[in-house]
Amino acid sequence: MLSSATPKPPRVLSGIQPTGQPHLGNLLGAIRYWVEDQTVGDCYYCVVDLHGLTVPGDPAERRQASMTMATLLLAAGLDPESCTLFLQSHVPAHAQLAWLMECTASFGELARMTQFKDKTAKGGEQTARVGLFTYPCLMAADILAYDADRVPVGEDQRQHLELTRDLALRFNSTYGPTFVIPQAAIPRPGRGARIMNLADPTRKMSKTTDLPSGVVGLFDEPADIERKIKRAVTDADTGPGSVRYDREAKPGVSNLLELLATLRGEDPQRVADRYSRYGDLKADVATAVLDAVEPIQRRYRELSAQPDFVYDVLKTGAKQANAVAAATLQRAYDAIGL
Ligand code: TYM
Repeated sequence: MLSSATPKPPRVLSGIQPTGQPHLGNLLGAIRYWVEDQTVGDCYYCVVDLHGLTVPGDPAERRQASMTMATLLLAAGLDPESCTLFLQSHVPAHAQLAWLMECTASFGELARMTQFKDKTAKGGEQTARVGLFTYPCLMAADILAYDADRVPVGEDQRQHLELTRDLALRFNSTYGPTFVIPQAAIPRPGRGARIMNLADPTRKMSKTTDLPSGVVGLFDEPADIERKIKRAVTDADTGPGSVRYDREAKPGVSNLLELLATLRGEDPQRVADRYSRYGDLKADVATAVLDAVEPIQRRYRELSAQPDFVYDVLKTGAKQANAVAAATLQRAYDAIGL
């Protein structure tokens, strides 16, 4: 007899740091895919406040930043009926499992992480927090604690996901099958995987940047968003064929084409065919970005007047997340001999 059991939905896990201004890259590379995944997956999303500790900060501001990020995620479309939303620090298993990951990863592996190298390039390794170095182990723990099948993230997290898989495979082959091996779910090229800074399209749009004129913050005033897009760096050539999708030769124009393509669900090459002037392209990008951001801002204003609601969502989320993560931690403790 055929089984009538429906297949289990994929388990989805992702996280975002509460520190710094959330921006269009976060929305297009990650958050909107989290919203989509709610309809098909069993989703766990966390504000990774422990990861935020790798840089110094004021306690009251930290607390507020976590609430702000959780409120923003709800405003962007996360539905507490369809996903589990929680703060990382409310689930002790993350930090506990991270230690097991630190005892699984090698020093050399962590030293090769490009994010660590980039983040210590300016300030130097000597003063960088050890937490910045071991950060990928905590991230692996975040993912493995939930038996996640898929992890929707932007391109910049690919290396961390590869390390997570390596650590899970190593642990499983040493101590027996314990962890599910996760897959990174990164947007296709041209669909928001790596949104670049508008003022310098050779670097990615980032929460912690010294070039804010090129970062479209999700809390920016609409007029500022429009201005930043209109001033986006393009190229000197303005002749026929100057609007084309070529990330190497025309990074600024290609970034704008990618923004429009991602927001309108189209292909960036196709979008390019419709434009001959940078000004027209920028005007349409600005409209598309505002169409996406303004409803989120409106909903954010409504929700930020209801902090008790947001706090309840996080409290319920932490309870559900704890149940899953504590069971995985126990499995890992048993396997390793604790
Ligand atoms: P974070 O907080 O820097 O960014 C959150 C998400 O936004 C994506 N992203 C981008 N996507 C496209 N273009 C950009 N310019 C851009 N900038 C950021 C990121 O790829 C990410 O998906 N280490 C993670 C947080 C984390 C995590 C996890 C993620 C901790 N534990 C477990 C997944 C699973 C980070 O710092 O993301």
